[in-house]
Amino acid sequence: MSKVKVAPSILSADFARMGEAVRNLDKWNADLIHCDVMDGVFVPNITFGMDMIKALRKCTNGILDVHLMIVKPEKYIPQFIAAGADTVTFHPDASDDVRGALTVIKDAGKKCGLVLNPDKPLSMIEPYLDIIDIVIIMGVYAGFGGQSFIPETLDKIREAKKLIGNRNIEIEMDGGACPDNFAKLAEAGTDIIVAGSAVFKAADPAAVIKQIHSI
Ligand code: DX5
Ligand code: ZN
Repeated sequence: MSKVKVAPSILSADFARMGEAVRNLDKWNADLIHCDVMDGVFVPNITFGMDMIKALRKCTNGILDVHLMIVKPEKYIPQFIAAGADTVTFHPDASDDVRGALTVIKDAGKKCGLVLNPDKPLSMIEPYLDIIDIVIIMGVYAGFGGQSFIPETLDKIREAKKLIGNRNIEIEMDGGACPDNFAKLAEAGTDIIVAGSAVFKAADPAAVIKQIHSI
């Protein structure tokens, strides 16, 4: 099995020390830096926007994996790309022009993807399998870090893997990842594990990243 990638979510980092957090992630060999953008409308929580991405861009050469939880992401995607995002993913149910938004990301030479909350079926991504690089399967309802993993997510990951077939699309799992389910997630077909609290609230975050890499 190829190595599972780790995308620590900075949502669980200390907001007053974000620069240090991403520099540490580079040191700890994180594969991607997951940035959760929330608007308080699509999800009940508000986090940060493109200015945070721009600031972090100066602190790391790592891959900034920007997860947009905002309504009408198409309105803001060019600004997130200009700020330095390397991958941009959004929820199809938040957008009025899913293909148009994906095309803007691809045309900028960045990776694009769609995110499905636990109640959103895989059929929602089917029309876009020709263009997406990533599908994010949520293991919790988007909005907050530190929630408990919904076990049915494992079956959805297996189904997603079947649907993707031999296409070059990575499966990212976001929400509720913890040492108890890392191996199960990998077995089910996860290519990238997002881990917020599992990394940043750990006594030894580097060891958690190493643990995922050694599955
Ligand atoms: C949830 C976010 C996640 C979150 C994951 O809405 O999309 O990326 O930070 O946090 P944990 O890993 O703590 O569930
Ligand atoms: Zn996320």
